[in-house]
Amino acid sequence: MKRLVFITSNSGKFEEVRKILLPHGIEVLQNDIPCPEIQADSSEEVVSFSLEWLGDREMAYLIDDSGLFIDALGGFPSVYSAFVFKTLGNSGILRLMDGLPDERRTAHFETVFGVSGSGKRLIFRGRCDGRISHEPLGSGGFGYDPIFIPDGGDGRTFGQMSTEEKNRLSHRGAAVRDMLENLDKLLEIL
Ligand code: IMP
Repeated sequence: MKRLVFITSNSGKFEEVRKILLPHGIEVLQNDIPCPEIQADSSEEVVSFSLEWLGDREMAYLIDDSGLFIDALGGFPSVYSAFVFKTLGNSGILRLMDGLPDERRTAHFETVFGVSGSGKRLIFRGRCDGRISHEPLGSGGFGYDPIFIPDGGDGRTFGQMSTEEKNRLSHRGAAVRDMLENLDKLLEIL
């Protein structure tokens, strides 16, 4: 069994990635060593900075930077997703979108993964399109999950889904699939 350390304080993200990689012979371990998160223009920049800052380590590791982009708000909260979640929260986002009909509630999530091991670095990406619900629904997941309805599902929010269901449709699930499509490159550095 190969091992990959997921450096994150977010147990929700960890559980999602752990569940998809385990059947592929990769055991994911969580480590929440604090890593400063810079305010940058893109997730790629945040991930590149974190990879530099963390440097080469004894074991291969993974970092994840994700963001929510709401079309009617000009892409907001984008790179401010963490700050906006802490300050406005889901109720604040819903207030900003009050009265907007379904067709104007489109949004997407993006995930960028950085993996470092054996002195090499790899980047993987995933995206999930969907829309913002009219009210928070479900108590599963984390963050914006209760207000995000992914395309390709049955109209439920991520907050109403099991981890497995969310993984099938989500940006993070897509980023893990991007990893698995490049499994040979990944296994070289684990
Ligand atoms: P981070 O900087 O990647 O940790 O994420 C930025 C913000 O987006 C945080 O408030 C997270 O809770 C939220 N977020 C990241 N991924 C997801 C997700 O898969 N579902 C819902 N919210 C998410």
